[in-house]
Amino acid sequence: MFRPSIARQALRTASQGPKRAAALRASCRPALPINTSRCISSTPALRDSKKDDKEDPLRKATTAAPPEEEAEHEGRYARTDESIHVEYPKDEEMPRSPIVQGRGGMHFKRTLASFSLEGRVSVVTGGARGLGLVMGQALVSSGSDLAIVDLNKQEAEEQVQKLVAQYKEENPGIEIMPKVTAHYADVANPDSVNDCIAEILGSHGKIDNLVTSAGFTENFDAISYPYDRMQKLWGVNVDGSYLFAVGVAKHLLERKSPGSIVMIGSMSGAIVNVPQPQAPYNAAKAAIRHLAASLAVEWASAHIRVNCISPGYMLTALTRKILEDNPDLNRQWTSLIPQGKMGVPEDLMGAVTFLLSDASKYVTGADLRVDGGYTLT
Ligand SMILES: NC(=O)c1ccc[n+]([C@@H]2O[C@H](COP(=O)([O-])OP(=O)(O)OC[C@H]3O[C@@H](n4cnc5c(N)ncnc54)[C@H](O)[C@@H]3O)[C@@H](O)[C@H]2O)c1
Repeated sequence: MFRPSIARQALRTASQGPKRAAALRASCRPALPINTSRCISSTPALRDSKKDDKEDPLRKATTAAPPEEEAEHEGRYARTDESIHVEYPKDEEMPRSPIVQGRGGMHFKRTLASFSLEGRVSVVTGGARGLGLVMGQALVSSGSDLAIVDLNKQEAEEQVQKLVAQYKEENPGIEIMPKVTAHYADVANPDSVNDCIAEILGSHGKIDNLVTSAGFTENFDAISYPYDRMQKLWGVNVDGSYLFAVGVAKHLLERKSPGSIVMIGSMSGAIVNVPQPQAPYNAAKAAIRHLAASLAVEWASAHIRVNCISPGYMLTALTRKILEDNPDLNRQWTSLIPQGKMGVPEDLMGAVTFLLSDASKYVTGADLRVDGGYTLT
């Protein structure tokens, strides 16, 4: 039954006359004086003989049991483990990411034309490596020209050469080659971002699509997380996505042209990963999801769509390194995924193409989770 709050009732009765208000005040006072020397439990408890049975194994699994009855397994897969420390490795320690091989299907197979990115120029930040590199390849395979942006320009340049060579090999006799370029930017630095966008425009003449994939994760428990590393993490993941999106949106607004932006968030923006502690990363990815939604609303009338892709565990070079250093994590992670497997970067190729193409013309502000169902349970 709905009961109006006492405060609301008091307000109403005050207007009904002083006598009724005084009666209500009296009814709110404790009926009996409280004996503070007697210990009264403030925790409500049902009278239940089964529950009071200290030997009942199910009782031991409830909050009715004292904490010392806790078994070792309780909460085991739902806690962070502060002994896990992972610092993002130095650039020279990271292996190069391989180029995806295979055309993803013969082109004479029937496909909706609205999935094509023909005639578009797409930018992928963090595109020299990992998920960004593979998503960039998906865009080229779908007809787009591509500008790869990365802190590591040399690696970006090498990947451009490999990517173009692979494309030639898989498309013999092709007359018009896609234009693929490499550019330096520190996405966390506004001047660097603006210079980079100007350089891309100088080379490609326009930008239609953006994917913000530059980002990284680290594991430290919150108490010992080095403050400078936390600032760096938020700088690259959050500021970097914001700065690049704003820079590209400015260009689209000036050009009065529609466009599509995809921000790479993470399932960590919706759930708390276990057991590796990573509070700042989780918060940064939650910020990305809502940043995409907020910018989607702000730029909807200018026909600029902004969506988020939230990948689950994907096997990239960094993920491989984390799993090699912490072998137990593999089983723990996959035991929590309904599909039972980690993803590979290629699993993002369709999702990013869909969100950048006209096939998703009426989709904006969405968060597309590509996580094998992790966030469902
Ligand atoms: N790998 C996963 O399992 C996974 C899961 C969910 C989300 N993500 C997210 O996907 C994105 C890509 O991750 P990844 O696994 O491919 O990482 P990665 O380390 O393989 O690649 C990241 C790229 O970003 C570049 N980069 C880093 N800082 C930069 C900066 N300040 N300016 C420009 N470029 C910079 C790096 O040089 C690198 O080429 C990240 O945002 C990550 O948080 C990854």
